[in-house]
Amino acid sequence: MRYLDIDASSRISKIGLGTWQFGSREWGYGEGYARQAARDIVRRAVDLGVTLFDTAEIYGLGRSERILGEALGERRASVFLATKLFPVLPLAPIVEQRAVASAGRLGTSLLDLYQVHWPNPAVSDAVIMRGMSAVQRVGLVGEVGVSNYSLARWQAAEKALGARVLSNQVRYSLADRAAEKELLPFAARAGRMVIAYSPLAQGLLSGRYDRSHRPANRVRAGNSLFLPENLERAGELISVLREVADAHAATAAQVALAWVIRHPAVTAIPGASSVEQLESNVAAAEIELSDDEQAALSAAAGRFRPVTGPAAIPAMVRARLRR
Ligand SMILES: NC(=O)c1ccc[n+]([C@@H]2O[C@H](COP(=O)([O-])OP(=O)(O)OC[C@H]3O[C@@H](n4cnc5c(N)ncnc54)[C@H](OP(=O)(O)O)[C@@H]3O)[C@@H](O)[C@H]2O)c1
Repeated sequence: MRYLDIDASSRISKIGLGTWQFGSREWGYGEGYARQAARDIVRRAVDLGVTLFDTAEIYGLGRSERILGEALGERRASVFLATKLFPVLPLAPIVEQRAVASAGRLGTSLLDLYQVHWPNPAVSDAVIMRGMSAVQRVGLVGEVGVSNYSLARWQAAEKALGARVLSNQVRYSLADRAAEKELLPFAARAGRMVIAYSPLAQGLLSGRYDRSHRPANRVRAGNSLFLPENLERAGELISVLREVADAHAATAAQVALAWVIRHPAVTAIPGASSVEQLESNVAAAEIELSDDEQAALSAAAGRFRPVTGPAAIPAMVRARLRR
């Protein structure tokens, strides 16, 4: 495993583990996964040097936090534990109460990183950060983070907190490079980090899926990347991933992760449906892409133009009716 070069209370692995999948109905991995596989994944991840574990109070309505906390058990002290507040009404007393509840479910007295899951369009960060500051002051929270924030709002959050907001967790992969414009340069300049979520574009970049073999679960049914036409459009990008992967005796998914974490301020938190996937994702931290490979992948990503947003709605409806 490799670790971020950042000033933090403990080491933060370049490949972490995302746990939205744990106990969540929308991923549809079932009870066997929640009761056994998820726990095996966590324990194996710790064995392999993963320190960053990401969950949220909203995942499985608290179940993901519970599964993660139980699976870590005594090994909690050796990891960097991150969870998120769903900021519906983030007044200070509510933030405090929710942080305590998350810590309880995780079985810990310290949340190493407490993130605001989404920017609340109606409530300013001055309000949210009052609560974040309180939980940080009393030692329940180590670092404050945000998620899905623009650069302007990330900086506004720092101003409101009066201290650094260590991280911004955003979607970042070969299928979505918006973070490169402002967030990555800021993070590199200011000693902050970007936590890349959906670094495999929810499995699209593994090359496992195509027009005739689409994943069946609610998360991906709602993701326009998995529309038949977009799976087809992704074909060239997947071919380049496979070509680079062959040169490293690796898989397309591993190369997709290696591309994401090549930036020094980025750590990725792929989810995993099995221990084997987790092991493969961890091994991606050891892949060193050459400048040419990185450029070829970026160029192929630039040519991938999926149908998204309102333009994708008719096709999404058609795809649902066909299921
Ligand atoms: N802050 C936010 O708003 C936000 C939003 C989304 C996610 N997140 C966080 O980010 C984490 C990861 O994002 P994500 O789950 O959306 O997407 P992801 O990590 O890109 O995709 C995860 C899925 O890809 C497949 N996969 C994983 N490793 C693989 C491998 N080695 N080979 C082939 N397939 C593999 C698995 O699905 P199959 O095996 O079923 O194909 C797995 O469930 C989440 O768990 C969550 O913690 C945060």
